[in-house]
Amino acid sequence: MKQKMKSCCFLLFLEILILLSGCNSYNNDKSANTIRIGVALYTQDDTFISSIVQNLEKIAQQTENKDLKINITIMDGKSNQTTQMEQIDQLIRRNYNFLCVNIVDRTAASVLVDKAKDADIPVIFFNRQPVAEDIERWEKAYYVGSKAEEGGKLQGQIVLDAWLNNKDIYDKNNDNIIQYVMLEGEPAHQDTLLRTEYAIKTLTDNDIMVEKLSSDTANWSKSQAINKTSEWIKQFNNNIEVVFANNDDMALGAIDAFTNAGLNIPLIVGVDAIPPAIEAIKNGTLYGTVKNDAYGVANTMLSLILSLYNNEKINLKLEDEHYLWLPYEIITIENA
Ligand code: BGC
Ligand code: CA
Repeated sequence: MKQKMKSCCFLLFLEILILLSGCNSYNNDKSANTIRIGVALYTQDDTFISSIVQNLEKIAQQTENKDLKINITIMDGKSNQTTQMEQIDQLIRRNYNFLCVNIVDRTAASVLVDKAKDADIPVIFFNRQPVAEDIERWEKAYYVGSKAEEGGKLQGQIVLDAWLNNKDIYDKNNDNIIQYVMLEGEPAHQDTLLRTEYAIKTLTDNDIMVEKLSSDTANWSKSQAINKTSEWIKQFNNNIEVVFANNDDMALGAIDAFTNAGLNIPLIVGVDAIPPAIEAIKNGTLYGTVKNDAYGVANTMLSLILSLYNNEKINLKLEDEHYLWLPYEIITIENA
């Protein structure tokens, strides 16, 4: 019995030794040519964000070769900044090489930048733009995205062109004023504030008279937009001439609300150019959208990561040392 125990212990000891040495050489080999990217999302439950992630995974796969592996871990922040911070702590503890952060609360970036800096892990924010002072805390903090006011301007431009060319159709009450409602994204998101402001400013700057019937947040969500728009339809009868939506999911929700009410669909515009929105443009229910470049965001983040990983000069247009901007683009029936 004693003998048996002894040999058992010895075997176990041997096994641990083998495991340890095996583990070590595996890790060394692996870390030599594997880039480990931790991606923290504000929520996984967002159409546009999902499309960025899908693109990132696809481009990473295409970039891999026999000498280079790219390992991506996705974390779902579930719209909770505390949860997201814990996930980022975990990624830092596990020695990820890069952090890509779609921050829940864009005013809360300073702590996060400091943590990344202490661990010397470059951090790339995307889609939800931290305030400038926070990004400027460290040279290896970046932002990849599009300029929110430009998105708003282009959305306003779509409505301006439609109105000038076909006022007889869109000015239902013939008063030469646009009666509109605005479906807004999450409060405090840069895209909510600036798209809302600049869409309308583009019209008023061009001497178009506008009358806001109502505006409210639908938090980027199609189902919330259906409910909101249905209320407005009841409240304003059939007097809504234009629906501005800060994104396509909400624009598609507005279309459903008019369809459910058995009404003609007014002039509705979104932002993103997600596939169902392109379909809706083709079938004439959505008037237009502004392309928010999900592929571009993914591709730019990965190019930046590769340059930093290989210690190369960054071959991208880095503005103010921290920003990589992607252009928006108008999409209507002409180019859908
Ligand atoms: C997109 C929205 C998305 C939001 C998430 C915006 O830029 O247009 O569709 O829900 O980002 O942060
Ligand atoms: Ca009118």
